[in-house]
Amino acid sequence: MLRNVICVAAGKGGVGKTSIAANLAGLAALSGWKTLLVDLDPQGNLCDELGTLDDERYDDGNSLLTSVLTGAAATVMADVRPGLDLVPAGERTKDLRGHFTLNPVAGNLLRLRYALGQLAGGYDLVICDTPPATDQLVKATLAASRFLLLATRGDGGSTRGLRHTATVYEEVVVEGLNPELEVLGIVRFGFAPAHTARLRNARARIEGVLGGIPIPVFDTFIRDAPRTADDVRDRGQLAFEYAEAAAQAPAFYQALRDGTPAAQFGSNADQLALDYLNLWTEVRDRYLHRRAELDREAS
Ligand SMILES: Nc1ncnc2c1ncn2[C@@H]1O[C@H](COP(=O)(O)OP(=O)(O)OP(=O)(O)O)[C@@H](O)[C@H]1O
Ligand SMILES: [Mg+2]
Repeated sequence: MLRNVICVAAGKGGVGKTSIAANLAGLAALSGWKTLLVDLDPQGNLCDELGTLDDERYDDGNSLLTSVLTGAAATVMADVRPGLDLVPAGERTKDLRGHFTLNPVAGNLLRLRYALGQLAGGYDLVICDTPPATDQLVKATLAASRFLLLATRGDGGSTRGLRHTATVYEEVVVEGLNPELEVLGIVRFGFAPAHTARLRNARARIEGVLGGIPIPVFDTFIRDAPRTADDVRDRGQLAFEYAEAAAQAPAFYQALRDGTPAAQFGSNADQLALDYLNLWTEVRDRYLHRRAELDREAS
């Protein structure tokens, strides 16, 4: 278990894991934390999110695979943003999953912890993004993490996904792979701010599903903003970068006057960026609080 590693997981696809991982890491780096993002999803969406797919250092996840297989330290894509490094994923991450699936014994799964351990010491925070699955690759990632951050859209499918991830969480703890893993909290993703009843119900449903495990639901939720989110990803920007670009774009009348095409930005760019800022503030505070408690217990 690595003290500064947070894994974002959900079991279900499309519930905001990658958006949450990228935006939290981006805001951590912006506030001066040396941060590493590790993509463990063969879809490689984090590179899309950060606009780094065309970066010549992009390696399809080869470096992390090699690190797990040989014990050599993985190479990171340094400074994809100031203070933010990235370990990318892609086709070779499928081989990594295959490697764990073929031999899912503790000694093998823990090779990922060893690989990440060689990097984690150089960072204030490491955030891992995971695929929409509850397979051995996710199990190995949970075995390497100190904290788990769950995401849900609050519907039946995502709640079942949470339950499946909770099962892997319990396996990892009970089997002794990582007894210290703890859930930092659950993020509600893709909700309309006006839907207070739906938000409340989602909280109740989550608490019901996860029964025995006391898991805090973050007060901040990420609003439903599909068009803005698509545009953000197309541009390879984080939400705050997009909001900043929107604020600096000339008004349409200025563009008309200049004879240049007017840039179109989603009208809720600011609110979406603020949602992530509020979420980061909550996650950061809870993370620092738990770290301080754990350090006190250990001393
Ligand atoms: N605030 C938002 N509101 C609505 N849709 C969003 C929002 N942010 C992102 N999306 C869209 O939701 C989809 C899923 O988001 P994301 O990729 O972050 O989820 P995921 O859980 O990582 O998905 P996967 O399981 O495929 O890895 C994407 O198409 C993304 O553009
Ligand atoms: Mg994803």
